[in-house]
Amino acid sequence: MLEVRSVGKRFGGLQAIQDASFTVEKGSITGLIGPNGAGKTTLFSIVSGSFSPTTGQVFFEGQDITGFPAHVLARRGIGRTFQIVKPFAGLSIIENVTVGAFLRHHNRSKAEKVARDVARRVGLTGDLDRPASDLTVAGRKRLEVAKALATEPRLLLLDEVLAGLNPSEIRDIIPVIRALRDDGVTILMIEHVMQAVVSLCDRVHVLAQGRIVAAGTPAEVVADPAVIEAYLGQGAAARLNPVRSAAHA
Ligand SMILES: Nc1ncnc2c1ncn2[C@@H]1O[C@H](COP(=O)(O)OP(=O)(O)OP(=O)(O)O)[C@@H](O)[C@H]1O
Ligand SMILES: [Mg+2]
Repeated sequence: MLEVRSVGKRFGGLQAIQDASFTVEKGSITGLIGPNGAGKTTLFSIVSGSFSPTTGQVFFEGQDITGFPAHVLARRGIGRTFQIVKPFAGLSIIENVTVGAFLRHHNRSKAEKVARDVARRVGLTGDLDRPASDLTVAGRKRLEVAKALATEPRLLLLDEVLAGLNPSEIRDIIPVIRALRDDGVTILMIEHVMQAVVSLCDRVHVLAQGRIVAAGTPAEVVADPAVIEAYLGQGAAARLNPVRSAAHA
């Protein structure tokens, strides 16, 4: 469904992404993990059209979409959430979601009907007419997913939707993400909560210092010395497990 091919992104003197390639299969939940500053959010911004890559190409459903702007890609079926959630504070919860639904439904009552259905799917409950600013952190995360989902994406990019949630809130939202996939939305998710990555993702790509350093099932990547080194520093894999690291070397 998605192919990122040899993508690079330079910000002035900083090479944030370098020669990154990976694919996302239709119908999958694919993870993108890596240490802070690895370039994960930058890759999302490239795939969703907020940034153009400096080098490389992006293909969506077989078509070259490199450099297409965000509003065009939203219409084509790529939705994203933002790591720093910013609801429209002056609007109610349902109005926030309806903003997304206006992409495909210009009739207000139809857009609001779609928004109410989306709110239910992500588990936004209670009075949806109260101000979005009243929501807890967990509620804001669900709202962020709902705003993106209301654009009716076929590919949904989730940027750390579990960050800042407590363990029981994380347990509650995992089935919501799985249900979206079961309803036909392909998901690419950036996530630091490994419990969620292991339970949700079919495949995981690991980005470190702008490069893809590993890919595989969650079980494969967490055991990969290159991934342990990316998170814990050079030599960490050998210090943690000298015998297995020697076998890999
Ligand atoms: N608009 C920008 N202008 C200049 N530098 C940027 C910009 N956006 C990101 N960067 C830099 O690019 C690098 C990658 O940042 P990015 O936000 O993509 O990392 P990340 O993997 O999402 O990190 P985190 O896990 O902390 O969210 C960082 O060094 C960051 O400071
Ligand atoms: Mg980020």
